[in-house]
Amino acid sequence: MDKQEIAYLRGMMEYEAGRTEPPSGFPRLPVIPGERYSAREFYALEQAHLWRKSWLLASHLDEIPAPGCFQTWDLAGPPVLITHGETGEIRAFHNVCRHRGAPVVASGSGKKPRLTCPYHGWSYGLDGELVAIRNPEDFRDFDYRSHGLSGIRCERFGKLIFINFDRNAPALIDWLGAVAPEWEEFQFDKCRLAARHVFELNCNWKIAMETNTEVYHVRTVHPKTVSPMLDDRRNVNTLYPNGHGRMVAPRPADSTMKAAVDLPPGGNAIGTVGEIARTATQSYNIFPNWVSPLNHRALAPLLFWPDGKDKCRLETWTLAADWGDKPKPDMWTDNDGEKLKQVLLEDVEMAEGIQKSLSSPGFSGASLSYQEARIYHWHQAADRLIGFANIPQSMRVEQVIGDQWLFPNDPRRE
Ligand code: FES
Ligand SMILES: [Fe+2]
Repeated sequence: MDKQEIAYLRGMMEYEAGRTEPPSGFPRLPVIPGERYSAREFYALEQAHLWRKSWLLASHLDEIPAPGCFQTWDLAGPPVLITHGETGEIRAFHNVCRHRGAPVVASGSGKKPRLTCPYHGWSYGLDGELVAIRNPEDFRDFDYRSHGLSGIRCERFGKLIFINFDRNAPALIDWLGAVAPEWEEFQFDKCRLAARHVFELNCNWKIAMETNTEVYHVRTVHPKTVSPMLDDRRNVNTLYPNGHGRMVAPRPADSTMKAAVDLPPGGNAIGTVGEIARTATQSYNIFPNWVSPLNHRALAPLLFWPDGKDKCRLETWTLAADWGDKPKPDMWTDNDGEKLKQVLLEDVEMAEGIQKSLSSPGFSGASLSYQEARIYHWHQAADRLIGFANIPQSMRVEQVIGDQWLFPNDPRRE
């Protein structure tokens, strides 16, 4: 982040603290229909479109570090196999044998030059090619070339491995857009994977995600954990194309209370991280399902995966600069995944309670403030991806936040 952008953000923090109404021209945000969190029909639309056309963070190079390594992954639904090929290429495939549909790798990860289906023993290379079948004399005119594993788009940002089920999706770098150059200072190409854990939650995945996409709840839900380290009145939201967003909030100037959560101890700092991420909370929400504070001690994505319309999985990651002999940093859990840290427990407890009340006849929809605009921006992007014509009128959101509010445009800059 250059000096000009830092100065702009510092100015915007004071602007936000001083304004007495939303910025001039910023639209009133219409109600977000409650059915988007509770109806089977909307869940099915997400499954059919949103999860099939978005770039999804599936793996980290440290999990399949060498040629021959492979890993299974199914957090978005369909079983996926990710491989590190002999020439260094990272690829993804449907984990489905082309003989009769068995999983080629049952589960987990490993290292082998060939992957052999446990059902009848067909063998595939790490490039997905079918290399051997048992009893080939029993098949007439068999064509090996047309029986390779079915490929899935797979691209990397540094050591982060993303997949996309849509062959026609834009390149990952274009999907990230302006976020990608902004992330250079965080060294995603060098940081190591320190922790990755999964927790089951009893709520719609968006409810859990959205408690992490605004700071309006911080004083009430996190009075002792987050609030002492985050000045919510000086929070500056930035909206990016494709539904992504960023928040930047300074530490309170007058806080005497010590925060119960802070940067994880141990490890080394990421030397290139800039002033804002070092001194403030700089957090991104990347469409569709990750929210991540980024700072000089840790890059810590939270990922939210659907598991039915009112269940989800929360995945917690911590990436950090090489920690050498020091303790492995973990931003989000205690005892290496035994339980969520207090700050996330506060959000989870709130989110699970909301699922019950929000599904009742007493709730018709969510009324968002200007400070919660990143949530509305996300819903607008979701509807564009699902396709307006596919969504019943009663479940759509209006497209009221125009491009003039998307980075690098911003009427607040004028
Ligand atoms: S299903 Fe894989 S070899 Fe038969
Ligand atoms: Fe929270």
